[in-house]
Amino acid sequence: MTLEEKVGQLHQVPPFFFSDSLVNEVAGPLRKYKISEAQLYRVGSILGTAGPEEMRQLQTMYLEKSRLKIPLLFMADIIHGYKTIFPIPLAIAATMDVERSRLAAKIAAKEAATSGIHVTFSPMADLARDARWGRVMESSGEDPFLNYQMTYAAVKGYQGESLKDPSTLAACGKHVVAYGAAVAGKDYTQAEVSKHSLYQYYLEGYRACVDAEAELLMSSFNVVEGVPSTVSPFVLKTLIRQHLGFKGVIISDYDSLNEAQFHHVTHTGEETALKGMQATLDIEMSSGIYQNYIIPLIKKGQLSERLLDQAVLRVLQLKEKIGLLDDPFRGLNPALEATLPLSEAHYQAAYDVAKASPILLQNEGVLPLNKEDDVVFVGSLLDEQNLLGAWAWHGEAERTASLGMVLRQRYSHELIPFDTLNETHVARIQNAKKVVVVVGERSKEFGEARSKVSPTLSEEHIQLWHQVIAINPSVITLVLAGRPLVLPSKIETSKGLLYSFYLGSAMADVLADTLFGQLNPSGTLPMTLAREVGQLPLHTLSLPTGRPFEGKTYTYTSHYIEGVNSPLYPLGYGLSYTSFSLLKAKKMHENDQAILLEVTIKNTGTIPGEHPVFAYLHTPPVPVALPEKTLVGVSRISLDAGATQTFTVTLPKHHFYYYDTQYRRQSFLGPFTVTVSLIGETLDVSC
Ligand code: BGC
Repeated sequence: MTLEEKVGQLHQVPPFFFSDSLVNEVAGPLRKYKISEAQLYRVGSILGTAGPEEMRQLQTMYLEKSRLKIPLLFMADIIHGYKTIFPIPLAIAATMDVERSRLAAKIAAKEAATSGIHVTFSPMADLARDARWGRVMESSGEDPFLNYQMTYAAVKGYQGESLKDPSTLAACGKHVVAYGAAVAGKDYTQAEVSKHSLYQYYLEGYRACVDAEAELLMSSFNVVEGVPSTVSPFVLKTLIRQHLGFKGVIISDYDSLNEAQFHHVTHTGEETALKGMQATLDIEMSSGIYQNYIIPLIKKGQLSERLLDQAVLRVLQLKEKIGLLDDPFRGLNPALEATLPLSEAHYQAAYDVAKASPILLQNEGVLPLNKEDDVVFVGSLLDEQNLLGAWAWHGEAERTASLGMVLRQRYSHELIPFDTLNETHVARIQNAKKVVVVVGERSKEFGEARSKVSPTLSEEHIQLWHQVIAINPSVITLVLAGRPLVLPSKIETSKGLLYSFYLGSAMADVLADTLFGQLNPSGTLPMTLAREVGQLPLHTLSLPTGRPFEGKTYTYTSHYIEGVNSPLYPLGYGLSYTSFSLLKAKKMHENDQAILLEVTIKNTGTIPGEHPVFAYLHTPPVPVALPEKTLVGVSRISLDAGATQTFTVTLPKHHFYYYDTQYRRQSFLGPFTVTVSLIGETLDVSC
């Protein structure tokens, strides 16, 4: 390969360089840096386009004109589905079910591969603790254990048994590192996180990517320890390649190599290219820095060609590994692309994943609804058809049913799909036995660059909610959201409260079935719900303080003078239409990998139910400050009404860790106390 050909492999361009009509999905500035035709036919990959015809055309055109005929890699953001849209990742995390995370990813890969995509920019492994950040929707929430488990399963789902299987996608975990720690939840800003927290909490999701053998990792937009990740040897070499042992391809985020200059950390294109190469960044996404400056640097003797070769080799190995060198049209299948996405079976899978996600936060005997109930539904979100959530580029909102459509089709209850009520509406609401009021966010209010200074309900929805509860206290509040919203202060006075993150294609069916009791809610919160915006970021892994709050009689403790410390609902909170009793819990077995608990549970209610059971490790004494308890195991149980059964809860030992003051990973030494918890009931187990 010539130097030019090697550099080309490290360059990823958006499709519009090939044709102006190809501007599909771009979540960044459309900087059309200069690129010659010769350079274009040497680039290694393209991002953000899909469709079997387009991809075939692009690849064919490229192969005809390029000398080496190394096929292009096509990468895209397949975040929670291609055309069959699964719940947003935060909603999948609410199921606490790794199998659902794996299944959603597997089907997303299967569908997207038919359109010729090879790599997905997913999963997002960023730990997310601040509801102001719009991208919490793409995360698995605030807890490192959950973050690890969900991320690992998603990578396995995308990549399958072998990447030679053309129905799989290579996974690109993102964004290294600590993008989720954006200060005050503002996108594209610096992450402020102590080095200890970085190792102890924030690395876990990326560690999951490496353990699950994700082929790629993407660098983040933010600055960490004074340097933008994309050009940071500390992030890419020390943390990712050395500490986590990652051997695959590292790609920049959109234009983030170029943006090192905007951060005033590099001052010329050459310096930026040099720092990127020295940090072991392999592919530059959508900037012309490597393309323009690597060769001059090598010619001047400032950059070793060996570094370039190593990066190119990683890219070529990826192409080889996924079978692209044998078949440039790997996976691409127009006939299948026309029938598989949104097929009945895939819709059913989306429904099955989504049905375990809605979270019942409150129920004073008002839910589930009966067909015969005199109930009226209120709120403009009833007619919202885009229930797909952000990052569903290829989803078809116009083919998705709104909740209102499903209710009208299946039930005869009255709908008032407005946020402003007239006199007739008011009279009807006043006379109804129950009122379901639907409030929350729409898809365009969360996702990338959708930070909110106040992640609450809109003024309109707050007013609507207050108006409804003032005229009829039998209110059931249904919240649809892409983040853990800070709800109005009296929301707990709702007789019923059901919280649902955006669930994708099957959302309306799942919500109707949950409200009317064909489904029993079994989701639990993957992020804590705060009572007030000023509490953010709020999560359950805060460190013990030397001045714990003991009531307002003594001043010098850790508290707010005009607010409370406690969340509205913590991580893991979620009720059921049935009730369970935790009868017994004991250690069953221990090996090098895991401790296995045996937990006996009875469904004490009158209907079948499923629910996650959580296991928390009490932190043994170590020389660093850690939360008092950390999540180390989750298992979903399922029980018929009245049934009693013994379940196994597995506690993988690699989660029994802490980082010491030298940032070395250490294992806790036993004996341990583990608390098993299920909807407010707990049992301690000695291990
Ligand atoms: C986002 C990435 C995404 C990339 C490509 C960026 O703006 O931060 O998460 O994968 O665009 O679309």
